[in-house]
Amino acid sequence: EPVDSFDYVIFGATGDLTMRKLLPALYRRFAEGQVPADSRIVGTARSPLDDEGYRERARQALHEHVRADELIDATVNRFLRMVHYVSLNGAESTGNWEGLKSLLVSNAAADRVRVFYLATAPDLYGDIARNVAEKGLRSESSRIVLEKPIGTDLETARKVNEGVGRYFPEGSIFRIDHYLGKEAVQNIIALRFANPMLERMWDRDSIEYVQITAAETVGLEGRGGYYDGSGALRDMIQNHLLQVLTVVAMERPVSLDADALRDEKVRVLKSLKPLDRDNLRANVARGQYVQGTAGGKPVPAYREELPGETPSNTETFVALKAEIDNARWRGVPFYLRSGKRMPEKLTEVVVQFRAGEPGLFGEARPGSRLVIRVQPNESVTLPLFVKHPGDSFGLDEVDALSRLGEPGRIRYRDSYEGLMLDAVKGSPALFVRKDETEAAWQWVTPILEGWREDENGPDTYEAGTWGPDSARELLRQAGHQWVEDIAA
Ligand code: BG6
Repeated sequence: EPVDSFDYVIFGATGDLTMRKLLPALYRRFAEGQVPADSRIVGTARSPLDDEGYRERARQALHEHVRADELIDATVNRFLRMVHYVSLNGAESTGNWEGLKSLLVSNAAADRVRVFYLATAPDLYGDIARNVAEKGLRSESSRIVLEKPIGTDLETARKVNEGVGRYFPEGSIFRIDHYLGKEAVQNIIALRFANPMLERMWDRDSIEYVQITAAETVGLEGRGGYYDGSGALRDMIQNHLLQVLTVVAMERPVSLDADALRDEKVRVLKSLKPLDRDNLRANVARGQYVQGTAGGKPVPAYREELPGETPSNTETFVALKAEIDNARWRGVPFYLRSGKRMPEKLTEVVVQFRAGEPGLFGEARPGSRLVIRVQPNESVTLPLFVKHPGDSFGLDEVDALSRLGEPGRIRYRDSYEGLMLDAVKGSPALFVRKDETEAAWQWVTPILEGWREDENGPDTYEAGTWGPDSARELLRQAGHQWVEDIAA
């Protein structure tokens, strides 16, 4: 289904995100026929480029970040014809705004959907929104997409929201969290609410704990400037992992409407038991990698990767125990962790059901474990015990395994593809509402403050391992283990 022709204006158009994710996502949707060819993609950034210069960069980006079998020269050329560039600093009111305006407001395009995608530093969002408004670029159907991070703590997040909110109503503000664009994350909603059996068992009576892991093998990737001021808690937990947690834990929404869904997600965030300096040590582990290996090769320590090898207390790993203080979940730990330089790239939700009674089949029956693999190789597994064929009552474990969708026939979309077009369509269900971002920051900010007062800094872990020992200790206290330790 093609959408109506649109204009997509990207601020931060020469940046890494645009090259790696945004242009490839629009290209793929164009190649699949969902983007009408008279749509336009207008990049803006400070670099003095013209259309041709920017198209060359865009072409290169596609060659680097789109699989070769998805790249067809003629299609790439047609795609690039939609691409334009205006050299402009979005945060400053001087600059070629007239050029941008005349491009957008020209004849036939004047009242089509216009999306402003902000992929710059977030402290510029307010100024960009103001300029877009004051320079007369808003149309009746304009939306503004905000990349993460929205701020660096509760106060700065509010400032960003207010700054943008002065010029755009909440209904046209699309805060993107690309984890909500992942097929397997959306699938959690289907699994939970389309299977009455699971739905009935989805609570503290049946579930012992939940683990949500987002592990990466990469280190800093030259993003030191951003990452060192951020750290894993802000970079991954405040947004992506808390979003996954809300989808796992929310009550059944009254419908799949954007606000019905997001009302339930906010409730989860507001029910999180506060973590602060008094209970931080018992519930949160943080780590920073030292020299080790990645993919069998030696890699340097985090501090050595920083420009100038500056000493830094930034955490590249966090593991924490969250608890949702409501009737469904009271007492069930939600273990969240994310880190750089882990042994593998893996995002996964593990739902551990409670153990059964001992007796009939010997020792206590271990509880079933539902594993939702978000990436790589999306899958859902739920092993069940069945009788071993033969005379005795031995048991076999069989994997009730499913890939999501039909392998080979379905192309798994990149998380940005669906979301970028949702913004065009004006469907905000998979975007983060203002009160959601702020509730997430409300919970995360006291952890940051507690850390600031703790001069010990992060524990260390060798690159290529599952994080510091403190992460294991966190679970050991409750008699639990991280999933890779159980499997080992
Ligand atoms: C981004 C973070 O939001 O998500 C990066 O800033 C991280 O540090 C990335 O690498 C992970 O995304 P994905 O889709 O590869 O899991």
